[in-house]
Amino acid sequence: MRSFKRILVTSALPYANGPLHIGHLAGAYLSADIYVRFQRLMGKDILFVCGSDEHGAAITIKAMKEGLTPEEVVNKYHALFEKTFKGIGISFDIYHRTSAELHHLTSQEFFNKLYQNGEFEEKETAQYYDEKAGRFLADRYIMGTCPKCGNEDAYGDQCEKCGSSLSPTDLINPKSTLTGEKPVLKNTTHWYLPLDKYENWLKEWIETGKLDGEQLHDPAEWKNHVLGQCKSWLDGGLQPRAMTRDLDWGVDVPHNIPGHEGKKLYVWMDAPIGYISATKQWALEHGKDWKLYWQDKDTALIHFIGKDNIVFHCLIFPAILKAHGDYILPYNVPANQFMNLEGRKISTSKNWAIWVHEYLDEMPDKQDELRYTMIKNMPELKDSEFTWKAYQDANNNELVNNLANFINRVLVLTHKYFEGKVPSFDEDVDFAGPEDQYESTFHETELIRIFDDIHLMADHIRAFDFRSALKTVMDISTKGNQILQFNEPWKNFKEDPDQVAAVLNLCLQYLAALSIIIRPFLPFTSDKLRQLLNTDPILEKGELEAMLEDLSEGRVLIPAGRKLQSPVHLFTRIDDQIIQTQIDKLMATDAVEPTGDDHHSFEPVKDEITYEDFMKMDIRSATIVGAERIPKADKLLKLTLDLGFEERTVVSGIAEHFSPEEVVGKRVSLLANLAPRKLRGVESKGMILMAENSDGKLSFVSPDNSTENGRTIK
Ligand code: 2FM
Ligand code: ZN
Repeated sequence: MRSFKRILVTSALPYANGPLHIGHLAGAYLSADIYVRFQRLMGKDILFVCGSDEHGAAITIKAMKEGLTPEEVVNKYHALFEKTFKGIGISFDIYHRTSAELHHLTSQEFFNKLYQNGEFEEKETAQYYDEKAGRFLADRYIMGTCPKCGNEDAYGDQCEKCGSSLSPTDLINPKSTLTGEKPVLKNTTHWYLPLDKYENWLKEWIETGKLDGEQLHDPAEWKNHVLGQCKSWLDGGLQPRAMTRDLDWGVDVPHNIPGHEGKKLYVWMDAPIGYISATKQWALEHGKDWKLYWQDKDTALIHFIGKDNIVFHCLIFPAILKAHGDYILPYNVPANQFMNLEGRKISTSKNWAIWVHEYLDEMPDKQDELRYTMIKNMPELKDSEFTWKAYQDANNNELVNNLANFINRVLVLTHKYFEGKVPSFDEDVDFAGPEDQYESTFHETELIRIFDDIHLMADHIRAFDFRSALKTVMDISTKGNQILQFNEPWKNFKEDPDQVAAVLNLCLQYLAALSIIIRPFLPFTSDKLRQLLNTDPILEKGELEAMLEDLSEGRVLIPAGRKLQSPVHLFTRIDDQIIQTQIDKLMATDAVEPTGDDHHSFEPVKDEITYEDFMKMDIRSATIVGAERIPKADKLLKLTLDLGFEERTVVSGIAEHFSPEEVVGKRVSLLANLAPRKLRGVESKGMILMAENSDGKLSFVSPDNSTENGRTIK
């Protein structure tokens, strides 16, 4: 990225209609937080804004479902969001909300400017109206049959089964979800943004980074999947899009505009302007000039979002900003893809999710453990997956065995041999490095290596490759452990105390460096490590920049003689039982029983695997020979299977579909080498394969009777 005076980072404003789950975090918040914390550590002028998206059909539909008013819904979730983001360490400079008066005024001013500029086309069209409810229907309030695939539950804007984007009048047999009535067409006037007329400059701006001959961004820095999505929208041709709606919840169309009555701003003419009003609010509170962040060419505007928001941030919002005329355009939109959970799409309606506020309650003081696993598996370029087992492994094998172990060993040894003080050392002492034996400059050489690694980490972060950046940080800790391992200071103190002093001094320099460079990823651990080292707390005001300067000048990071705190373990092992409790909790949700509204859609095809991957699965034919209910578990049946060579117990989440009597005798396919797990106290060894039809009805995948029990299926 070319150098800018300042950076403005936004994270997608979450709809205030339900709690945050790990998919949200992985999409738009954790990555932004890493980026921002890093740039602050580098002394950059960077502002990080976000807030709750409190308008739109997402909110009113939720209110209707819960019997609450829209205000009650947004107040509830706005408060929960603030607490949750803080709890997991997302370091917004401001967390605002779109129901704030300042936001209403800002988006109205914006709309007015476009109106005065003559950017809108006013058009009368016929739209669906629910006569019983006495109102026009937002696209999401109309359901009917998809003209493309025949799905009877398609929405007015999209069919979730075949993925086509629709308009309400495309639907066959439309029905109002408010009253169930057939809506009628009624004329209404709206203001349209002629995106078709912007198509050419949008295309040029995205594909070349140039606008009116000026180089504004570098498309080579944009993620391929983001460019790809933009290209396919542009190739499909853009249509004028209405910027207003007939609604009673949202920002009023400014009252000076004739015909404003009953009209609200379209939520995408409202939410992204929330980034601007958040900046204004922050500037008010800090005596700053918000315009510098939005209207000065020396600002890089970066939007962190999930992939479902790409079109809005790469095409529609830039079009709105340009139509206004005073604003800069985004420099980059490093959208993430989706994170799946334990092999399935995260689904709010099926409760197949890890809710961040529940995690924070149930796993107290383990924020960085979650952050670490999520960053390690961040869906930066393609969809990724969170599993509790991977979380446990990452914690036990990497955070405990590598990072915490290194920190602890260095502190223990320093207390043992040097009364807990950073030892001074003699430059001429010779000792072993991980790969080599160095001359007397070893200490310095190793510090230079850290310097190079930190630059590598910085490059990864600047390229939005947070997974590699985290790996680079952990490699530094690995190298620290290797220095201990090669020199074995615990063996040599008697013979060669000078060497032990030099080794521990070097390791303490590593710890001082780690306390800063882990911060973007593991901010809570960074604080704890600083305390252990009795070092100044980090305020994210250029500490990393200063440290790189120290290293390049050959200065140490922590001085000899500094007294350290007594060692503690910064991470501890997480045992199977804790993980199992979380898995059980997930399995006990509705997701075990596949109902809900999104089973009409096809799940996306998972990432490609090799033949070898497939052959790792051992699937056998079997017969159910016994079945019983499990007390207090409405969804589970305990099944006994005849596998030919043995009998097995398997717990299956099918009790709401089948009675124990009707499954006995059924032929089934069993994934026989799945790691055993306990469900409601019963150990389950394997998993029965089931197929689900579009009504959520289950059937067994049965080999025919000529295949004996125990035969392999492949
Ligand atoms: O998709 C969503 O969750 C939207 N609430 C995102 C809005 S991003 C922005 F424009 F504010
Ligand atoms: Zn369809």
